[in-house]
Amino acid sequence: MKNVITIDGPSGAGKGTIARLLAKKLGYKYLDTGALYRAVAWKVREERTDLSNESALKRLIENIKITFNGDRITADGVDITSEIRTAEIGELSSQVSALPSVRAGLFGIQRNMCLQGDVVIEGRDTGTTIFPESENKFYLDASVEERARRRYEELKMKDAAITLAATIEDIKKRDTRDSTRQTSPLTRTDDMVYIDSTNLSIEDVVEKITGSLKR
Ligand code: DC
Repeated sequence: MKNVITIDGPSGAGKGTIARLLAKKLGYKYLDTGALYRAVAWKVREERTDLSNESALKRLIENIKITFNGDRITADGVDITSEIRTAEIGELSSQVSALPSVRAGLFGIQRNMCLQGDVVIEGRDTGTTIFPESENKFYLDASVEERARRRYEELKMKDAAITLAATIEDIKKRDTRDSTRQTSPLTRTDDMVYIDSTNLSIEDVVEKITGSLKR
């Protein structure tokens, strides 16, 4: 399928910004799959769910109601758009996303949205597990330092105590966890167009993607 564009890559590579712009340009829907894992992490924190308690986690996933409305996201009726963009939820979402029951629970919502077509979907496993039949797969990357710098710029507005050095360490830790977990690890495959955005502007990246789209 050509009208499902998948963008995978590590934290801070710019997937969200790029996917949103690309979707707007093409008149497609946009799905930020990381936000789903962040929403689950938020609920886990709210309910103090023990991550080793499989049945509690299963119940949480079955019952949580996540909705997207434009740029806003809600979980069980609570607007969590801003609250999920913190270093703490970032770390917890990475832990939560390594659990097979969580991934299985969030598979359907992602897969169904792809089946409707005209969508840009971004995350860690969108081109490998969620929609492998996409004919427009991209892998967006950047150096660890650049990715950490971008994350730091985002996070420091909310958290005055955050430092660039700590953000670099966080990003490295998440990279390792996200790409070495057993279930659907972040993987770059031969059928993905690789883009290193370290020295590229947002517009450059969008142009590169648009230029290599199979239509
Ligand atoms: O892209 P992000 O930083 O919002 O993602 C948060 C976490 O969710 C990330 O550390 C790994 C996980 N994730 C995942 O495992 N699979 C996806 N498709 C998207 C995100």
